[in-house]
Amino acid sequence: MTAPIINGKQISEEIRKDLREEVERLAKQGFKPGLAVVLVGEDPASQVYVRNKEKACHELGYYSEVHRLSAETSQEELLALVDKLNRQSNIHGILVQLPLPKHIDEKAVIDAISAEKDVDGFHPVNVGNLMIGDDSLLPCTPAGVIELIKRTGVEISGKHAVVIGRSNIVGKPVSLLLQRENATVTMCHSRTANMKELTQLADILVVAIGRANFVDASYVKPGAVVIDVGMNRLENGKLAGDVDFDSVKEVSGPITPVPGGVGPMTITMLMQNTLIAAKRLQGLA
Ligand code: GUN
Repeated sequence: MTAPIINGKQISEEIRKDLREEVERLAKQGFKPGLAVVLVGEDPASQVYVRNKEKACHELGYYSEVHRLSAETSQEELLALVDKLNRQSNIHGILVQLPLPKHIDEKAVIDAISAEKDVDGFHPVNVGNLMIGDDSLLPCTPAGVIELIKRTGVEISGKHAVVIGRSNIVGKPVSLLLQRENATVTMCHSRTANMKELTQLADILVVAIGRANFVDASYVKPGAVVIDVGMNRLENGKLAGDVDFDSVKEVSGPITPVPGGVGPMTITMLMQNTLIAAKRLQGLA
């Protein structure tokens, strides 16, 4: 039997509709959440991501600023802009698009963003709060992964979740969020021995290893929820996930496609984070 497909695009639209309605309510009280996005240089993929973030702000009624800086911008100039945005009262979320040019220290820039406005959830204060289970701004892709699992209707509590990949941006935070939902979590990565023996035990399998079609049906327990965070560009120009969707969907439970699964959720969770940050800063939360 073919598994149900988790429609990330549709779920994302449902969440955006709720956000739009809340922003309209706040607008009637004279308040608008504001997001500043900073892009340094002309990386084509980053330009597309930034345009999509700007578009989402307009569609949902947020105030939006996009700062497009030349690739020659110095670290001091960038830090001065971050400092200005930290102090700007109409800006509640700040996102500096990564990667930055090589002469700029990414960590120094992330550390400089006010933790209350760090809508990427990358600042050490937010990472630390996630670790100890305190309120924090959650990183967008991991938050989207959890939302997609919840919307399958499959209970996370008590389940065995296996996460493939241990990056700071996806694997580590996803595993912490799954633990927070009372799953028992196993983390696998490129050096894991006998990976299949572990993944075959997973009720929930999250794959973020960055290798096209790495997980085939032999890795998957029948009926397991499979979330594919991979976005790999193939030689023929097509986009492929880390999961071999066609074979896995024949054995798995609910499964995300690529594209149209996790991808659409990331900007939506960014918009949600911006609204959360705005309400907290305004004393409305
Ligand atoms: N570049 C690719 N993905 C991201 C992201 O989620 N946040 C930022 N700041 N840069 C990125």
